[in-house]
Amino acid sequence: MNIPSHVAIIMDGNGRWAQKQNLPRIRGHEIGGERVEEIIRAASHYGVQYLTLYAFSKENWQRPAQEVSFLMDLLSHYLDHKLKKIRENNVRFNAIGKLTDLPGNIQKKIAYWIQETKNNTGLWATFAFSYSSRLEITEACQKIASEVAEGKLKPESIDEKTINAHLYTANLPDPDLLIRTSGEMRLSNFLLWQISYAELYVTEKYWPEFTQEEFAKAIEAYQKRERRFGLAAPLRKD
Ligand code: IPE
Ligand code: IPE
Ligand code: MG
Repeated sequence: MNIPSHVAIIMDGNGRWAQKQNLPRIRGHEIGGERVEEIIRAASHYGVQYLTLYAFSKENWQRPAQEVSFLMDLLSHYLDHKLKKIRENNVRFNAIGKLTDLPGNIQKKIAYWIQETKNNTGLWATFAFSYSSRLEITEACQKIASEVAEGKLKPESIDEKTINAHLYTANLPDPDLLIRTSGEMRLSNFLLWQISYAELYVTEKYWPEFTQEEFAKAIEAYQKRERRFGLAAPLRKD
């Protein structure tokens, strides 16, 4: 059936979805939270092994304080209430990003759920919080440079595996499919290194509209793709 092993999603468009129907932007974030649950279930159902969700970027801290504070409350609420269900579904919870930027109580909840679900064997659900791909790569460079300075690593032995091993995503394979909702054709600082050969799928649907049926469409689109990893393309039949 050719199911992507790792699906990454840029969950965009909560604010626009809400504004379109004269609701406050925060209502869009609330409904967006419901889609997160639905898509985790759908991905598990399809046998996707890794799902990585861009929930909050490093740049998103620059939004109005009220919106940021609402998002933190929502996240806190999500961690308290939704993760129980996630645990029952055998999902393994994971987080990437500059987690120390988050309020202390949220950091504790994240650590708790990582620990609580670490022996689960189902879908590996990774949330990106205060995430910046450029910062991730910068920090990897710093760590590698320290190892070189301490004499633990030779510059000439640094290869792609070394870089991978120093990223927040060290334990994850590269994404096979990257989905972005709400039509924007950009990466917004998400997994720049890791998506080198991912298939891209952009839908006009806003994230609160991205139901399991929309997820199924993305999987179907992926199944029609031909991945080549740099090899020569076959002759076209038309
Ligand atoms: C995505 O929706 C959620 C976050 C970035 C936190 P947005 O809040 O970016 O919604 P739009 O793109 O402004 O509509
Ligand atoms: C990307 O969405 C970040 C998340 C989905 C968490 P943004 O709304 O922040 O991206 P831009 O500003 O449109 O590039
Ligand atoms: Mg946006």
